[in-house]
Amino acid sequence: MRYLILSDIHGNWEALQAVLAHARSKYDRILCCGDLVGYGADPDAVTEWVRDNVASIVRGNHDKAAAGLEDLEWFNPVAKQSALWTQAAMKPENIAYLRDLTKGPEQVNGFQILHGSPLDEDEYVVTERDVEQLAPYLDSEVSFFGHTHLQGGFQCHRNGVVAFGGVDDDAQDRAVELETDVSYLINPGSVGQPRDGDWRAAYAVYQPETRLVTLYRAEYDVASAQKKILKAGLPELLAARLEAGV
Ligand SMILES: [Fe+2]
Repeated sequence: MRYLILSDIHGNWEALQAVLAHARSKYDRILCCGDLVGYGADPDAVTEWVRDNVASIVRGNHDKAAAGLEDLEWFNPVAKQSALWTQAAMKPENIAYLRDLTKGPEQVNGFQILHGSPLDEDEYVVTERDVEQLAPYLDSEVSFFGHTHLQGGFQCHRNGVVAFGGVDDDAQDRAVELETDVSYLINPGSVGQPRDGDWRAAYAVYQPETRLVTLYRAEYDVASAQKKILKAGLPELLAARLEAGV
């Protein structure tokens, strides 16, 4: 079984379509680490596609926000404005789908998917130190997470944690061969709003049988996604950041 791992699509239909075209014939089943909506202009289209195509999913903080399950007071002004726009724009049945999404971690065939950290779905896992504190609580040898929009991950050895990065700017993929006696926390990166300085849509494919994770980047039609954001009246910053990947 080959799993396509998606995270942080954020209503970016163009990025999602580019990922699906780029990943064609590389996977059998689709998983999602949350944040289907927020920031982007196509929350309904993305949510409907996820409803029809994703086998396992956990919710993200922006899914909770759109569904009215999150207090928006701690969101920054741009995120809050986009959450309110998303709530107003989406069809009731898609909002209901977001409201019913489950909190991670979710077990899948010997590994797990989650949004923030194994202990807190809203926590940002960024540094090796963050992971050192989480290592005792990792229930699975392999965990996929999102939330930070940073592609890459962490190897948890008995003696410490080692971080690894995502795909290089001049490449389209990076293979990560999983070692034995090591736990992994792996972020496929964000499909719809990368923040690691690479504007290309990010995703991963995992083959448990061969113990291989491949990280990918796919170019997409950023200009169309930006035009839709501006036409929707969403903050200009949300359009501008897409082409910089920040
Ligand atoms: Fe996100």
